[in-house]
Amino acid sequence: MALSRFERTRLARVLNYEDARRFAKRALPRAVFDYVDGGAEDEITLRRNTDGFRDLRFRPRMGVWVAEPELSTSLFGQAVSFPVLTAPCGGLRLIHPHGDVGVANASASAGTIHIASSASSFSLEQIAESSPGRHWFQLYRYLGRAGMENLVIRAKAAGYKAIVATIDTQVGSKRERNWRNGFSYSMRVNAANALKLGPQLAPRPFWLARYVRDGMPFQLANTAAITRDGVPMALPEMGYRESNSPTWEDVAWVRQNFDGPVLVKGVLTTEDARRALDLGCDGVVVSNHGGRQLDAAPATIDVLPEVAAAVGGKMEILVDGGVRRGSDVLKALALGAKAVLIGRPYVWGLALGGQDGVAHVLDTLRAEMQRSMQLMGCSSVQDLDHSWLTHVGSPLSSASENTRAPSGPAS
Ligand SMILES: Cc1cc2nc3c(=O)[nH]c(=O)nc-3n(C[C@H](O)[C@H](O)[C@H](O)COP(=O)(O)O)c2cc1C
Repeated sequence: MALSRFERTRLARVLNYEDARRFAKRALPRAVFDYVDGGAEDEITLRRNTDGFRDLRFRPRMGVWVAEPELSTSLFGQAVSFPVLTAPCGGLRLIHPHGDVGVANASASAGTIHIASSASSFSLEQIAESSPGRHWFQLYRYLGRAGMENLVIRAKAAGYKAIVATIDTQVGSKRERNWRNGFSYSMRVNAANALKLGPQLAPRPFWLARYVRDGMPFQLANTAAITRDGVPMALPEMGYRESNSPTWEDVAWVRQNFDGPVLVKGVLTTEDARRALDLGCDGVVVSNHGGRQLDAAPATIDVLPEVAAAVGGKMEILVDGGVRRGSDVLKALALGAKAVLIGRPYVWGLALGGQDGVAHVLDTLRAEMQRSMQLMGCSSVQDLDHSWLTHVGSPLSSASENTRAPSGPAS
């Protein structure tokens, strides 16, 4: 769907992630904006995720002209034009009717990978059709092992290249913004909820009209096919009797039953990284779910160096949480990540202009990476290592102070 002139002008005015976030705040009902923006409890981890990046500074190499910085890399033999993937995010049709399919298309056009969520609002088959054989699938454990196996078998049949098992969502966390706004995953579109949310929806008539035209999708599309005694499973049935996340036993099953790469998302310690390695997994995503699960979990950029030291070279390390600028991507790569995932920034982009909004966010990040690399005198993302960084409080002149080992300056 082509953008109108007004929409193109609006996109051009969005210079960075904060502009996109501001736009999303104006466009979405409060409950929906907060569902995306918020974190668990006191949001300590949510804040530290971004602050952690701000505490890192570059050690640039001046006097070097880099005409075209090399951003491309490969993940498990799959080429990506730059090391930024779109993270698995549930409920995307609440944001825009393009939902997961729009995100997958934008990612494929940008030459990168979308990780489709188990909690997607288009089915995993519909998302796969948008760009066959390119994307990865994120795994939850709906309806115990049987539900999880159903998803793996279907992801395999649909041509997903890798499985990303999210291990940090054993139960739903206490996201107090959602509680205050009366928002919950087990909500139904009905008169009672319409009344409850009415005051938040009334000031957002454009969003509301679009959502109604889209058929008010609020179900998890993948579970429509998961049945108990022949009856499609309802949302509230999920995740409260058993872990909503795969356990290590489940990860072992996935490893044995999926031929492609298996990654574990939600790793924050060397112990868990080694455990994933011992089970034969191919990669980990250092992640705290964007500060949405265990509050006071460490910021991912703070623990990335120790995970990289433990398993780097033996498996691919990805990281997410708080990546907002191209320079953040470079910092994560310098500390041992092969690529990063972004969550909220692309969801704000989706609010901004559907698929084109996501493309705009990805383009902006890529351009920021390029410019920062030129200003740093860095010609390729492959060259990034600890020597390019220093931590606030460390002397800029000493590369040996840059390792940010666990015993280093913590904040
Ligand atoms: C609205 C939203 C929904 C999410 N849903 C999922 C999900 O279904 N599965 C999952 O593994 N992570 C989910 N996440 C976490 C993201 O995959 C990712 O870890 C996180 O957003 C990264 O942090 P950032 O938002 O600061 O970039 C979700 C995040 C957001 C913002």
